[in-house]
Amino acid sequence: MMDVATMKAHLRQMAAAVEERLAALFADGAVPERLRQAMTYSLLAGGKRLRPALLLAWAELGGASSSVVLDAACALECIHTYSLIHDDLPAMDNDDLRRGKPSCHKQFDEATAILAGDGLLTEAFSLMVRISLPADRVLAAIAVVAEAAGPRGMVGGQMLDMELTGQSGEVLALQRMHQKKTGALFTAACVMGALLAGRETAAARAYGEAFGLAFQITDDILDVVGDTATLGKPVGSDERQGKVTYPALVGLEQSRILAQERVHQAIAAVAPYGDHPQALFLRALADYLVERTQ
Ligand code: IPE
Ligand code: IPE
Ligand code: MG
Ligand code: MG
Ligand code: MG
Repeated sequence: MMDVATMKAHLRQMAAAVEERLAALFADGAVPERLRQAMTYSLLAGGKRLRPALLLAWAELGGASSSVVLDAACALECIHTYSLIHDDLPAMDNDDLRRGKPSCHKQFDEATAILAGDGLLTEAFSLMVRISLPADRVLAAIAVVAEAAGPRGMVGGQMLDMELTGQSGEVLALQRMHQKKTGALFTAACVMGALLAGRETAAARAYGEAFGLAFQITDDILDVVGDTATLGKPVGSDERQGKVTYPALVGLEQSRILAQERVHQAIAAVAPYGDHPQALFLRALADYLVERTQ
């Protein structure tokens, strides 16, 4: 088992490569300055870069070099950042703090935040089409991310989240909402990595689905027991809004047990990859999910 410090160092290394590339986007002078500022403000505000890291890890596990798939990893971070900008808007979660800074609509204004999100989502596809790999692999990866980010995936999950807000809710509906709003993009990250490497995707899918559910259960737990300064976003937001969450439905203790079950599933999915360094990383990262504070 890779220890936590080594896992974090490995994650930081991948995050640094992604951030260097993200920082170079929009430098072509063709983007209106205020829009460029808003997009880069949110994109470079920090963030754990888990989705890009998962894509890079699954790609390397399949034998691809991370530099070749880096733009796909950056595309995922663009889509994720757009989802956070829109998630924080007054019409949605109405949260004023994100990644330790004022949310995009607070730092700029609502119209700019909406457009920054739109711009990041679209830019992701510009990045994807430029990947220098066989066109069939690139096309397959684009299909996966479009499905995962769109109405059948993340956007659909956000709709279910809004519809469930204020309702009593039940676990099956909650799990379906989590699968879509959070699980879909994590699963896409893993599957895209495998696809771009030209590998089969079953293990990546199993890992991503379990990882995504464990991740969102923990996100719900941290909204109750977390610390705003460490999380970089407001705690207590879910309760204030009447969100349907695992702690609200089954309590903290049972939520932790359910998250741990998913972590075990994720770890089991990597078994076929033995001691490959990225397999060790993927296991250690999943194992860390339940104890994370950020
Ligand atoms: C937050 O995701 C949104 C959820 C899906 C719960 P992260 O916790 O990965 O956010 P960053 O990227 O680290 O800011
Ligand atoms: C949002 O879930 C998931 C997204 C698709 C952005 P949350 O609303 O729980 O995410 P946080 O807690 O604001 O990061
Ligand atoms: Mg939300
Ligand atoms: Mg939110
Ligand atoms: Mg949350």
